[in-house]
Amino acid sequence: MSHVSDLIASDIAGYLKAHENKSLLRFITCGSVDDGKSTLIGRLLYDSKMLFEDTLATIEADSRKWGTQGDSIDFALLVDGLAAEREQGITIDVAYRFFSTERRKFIVADTPGHEQYTRNMVTGASTADAAVLMVDARKGVLTQTRRHSYLVSLIGIRHVVVAINKMDLVDYSEKVFNKIVEDYSAFARQVGLENITFIPVSAFKGDNITAPSDKTPWYRGTTLMGYLETVEVDEERMQRAPFRLPVQWVNRPDLDFRGFSGTIAGGVVKPGDRVRVQPSGKESKVARIVTFDGDLDQAVAGQSVTLTLADEVDISRGDVISTADAPAGVADQFETTIVWMHEEPLLPGRFFLLKMGAQTVTASVMEVKYQVNVNTLEHTAAKTLGLNAIGVCTLNLDRPLGFDPYTENRDTGGYILIDRLTNATVGAGLIHFALRRSQNIHVQHVDVNKAARNALNGQKSCVVWFTGLSGSGKSTIANLLEKRLHAMGHRTYLLDGDNVRHGLNKDLGFTDTDRVENIRRVAEVAKLMVDAGLIVMTAFISPFQAERRMARSLMEEGEFFEIHVDLPLAVAEERDVKGLYKKARRGELKNFTGIDSRYEAPEAPELRLATENLAPDEAVEQIVNLLRSRGCLP
Ligand code: ADX
Repeated sequence: MSHVSDLIASDIAGYLKAHENKSLLRFITCGSVDDGKSTLIGRLLYDSKMLFEDTLATIEADSRKWGTQGDSIDFALLVDGLAAEREQGITIDVAYRFFSTERRKFIVADTPGHEQYTRNMVTGASTADAAVLMVDARKGVLTQTRRHSYLVSLIGIRHVVVAINKMDLVDYSEKVFNKIVEDYSAFARQVGLENITFIPVSAFKGDNITAPSDKTPWYRGTTLMGYLETVEVDEERMQRAPFRLPVQWVNRPDLDFRGFSGTIAGGVVKPGDRVRVQPSGKESKVARIVTFDGDLDQAVAGQSVTLTLADEVDISRGDVISTADAPAGVADQFETTIVWMHEEPLLPGRFFLLKMGAQTVTASVMEVKYQVNVNTLEHTAAKTLGLNAIGVCTLNLDRPLGFDPYTENRDTGGYILIDRLTNATVGAGLIHFALRRSQNIHVQHVDVNKAARNALNGQKSCVVWFTGLSGSGKSTIANLLEKRLHAMGHRTYLLDGDNVRHGLNKDLGFTDTDRVENIRRVAEVAKLMVDAGLIVMTAFISPFQAERRMARSLMEEGEFFEIHVDLPLAVAEERDVKGLYKKARRGELKNFTGIDSRYEAPEAPELRLATENLAPDEAVEQIVNLLRSRGCLP
């Protein structure tokens, strides 16, 4: 170690230069606390004459110092990755360590093994080339070994090394080793893991870590370090994949060329290659490959480049430039695996932002098909996914994406889901394949439109969206408002919770999932009615901010008026017009809003009606004035 330290001290530029050309292997270690994972990492770092290793704080401090020296790539990668995770609000207990040998550079993510850390493992492993699975020779293949293997396979890590550890405690027994190899191999086939290497080690004693051990003469395979130094990194493999460039940004067209920049996510590109831009499907040819150091004759996966094309093609950030021979797919509905990372469960029908590379679209889960039990691999029926659950779902997007199945390309097939209110990352997903359901359904142009209907009606159609606790007065006020508007000669319709739940939504109850679907349908119906030229009133508790926001986003600017009918819970309960609060308190009615189901009050409604001290006709007066002032009524 001191030799290296001296080198760093005396000739840092020289050291970094030599360092730059080495390949970088990212790997993860999985195992439980006492499998000897930390000892193993310590051993690797120590025996490899580690250059340095440290926790995040030190890496960050160093990155400032070292970043200027030209080795910024590795540090940027580490620090950016972690910063991004923190920005997204996930607490990650993944320790990243960096070390290097004569042959290679390494980043190892040490992920905790408990089931409640599934999300951490997924995050830590999402860019890994290889996984080191620790198995205690005395214990053999355990439930968590299976869980880790399933996750490793799911995430698409192609190279797995099973380090059968603590061989010293089983007298370096070949029999013990072979038994574990046999057990594990049977299981690995089940989860679809292929390239598996088994190594008998003692992390504590150092057997077969960097040098072959004389205690295991029956073992002729590689040492762990030998394996890590030679196993293929994903970037090398991805060079054989079809060419993909997810466009990170488009250079200013006022420059002398229009350039499209990003990091190549697969394959090789050369000037003259025919490319197709997805999702638009436009084709052209590569004119130049531009980098800071001049034009290139070719560029490969992992490189950051700017392409110019032979034709003027309209390309925006988020598009995927593909080889024309094997272009990325285009679709707006998918079957996908989702790893849920949030305390609040995933509710079908709720809208999220989906981020894949530079593409961001609005997405919602249509259906959870099943959940996978990560310990037994059984498929169980599920309607929602809780924290750390993994499920197979159908997903709907608001517009088409360029994509690949995750198994073919992790960059163009893997995405994260972000909560639209809090910006927190709530899930990670892997695309299986596109669903073709709505592919041949196009929006039909009609000649008599909303404006024509509104003109005929002498009003500007809109939605008056009431929200508030049960018994707060929504229906009463809405009913009175409709009477008033009708008397004024306006065309109206009232959608009321209790009524709609007898017809259109009679299949829905009061779980969070059902409420989300209730409001989704009502919002879609309200949209049609606004298009039909009506002034629509909706009287639903609509307890969740996310769905009210979704309803608003379906309408055009100035068409949605959120009215918070704000009666304190104690007063609503005291009045208890339908006797439901009493029932709920007695435990005879589950999921009752305000009692054992939450109500999220609007933050910025168009109008707040404090109905404790407000007569219904005064409330109606206020709404009519609002509609007049916004041009919906003459
Ligand atoms: S919402 O939450 O999905 O918007 P919605 O407005 O359709 O609810 O229905 C609320 C009405 O259903 C209430 O006014 C009440 O009469 C009735 N109801 C029956 N069970 C419940 C429940 N568990 N929670 C709230 N309302 C209930």
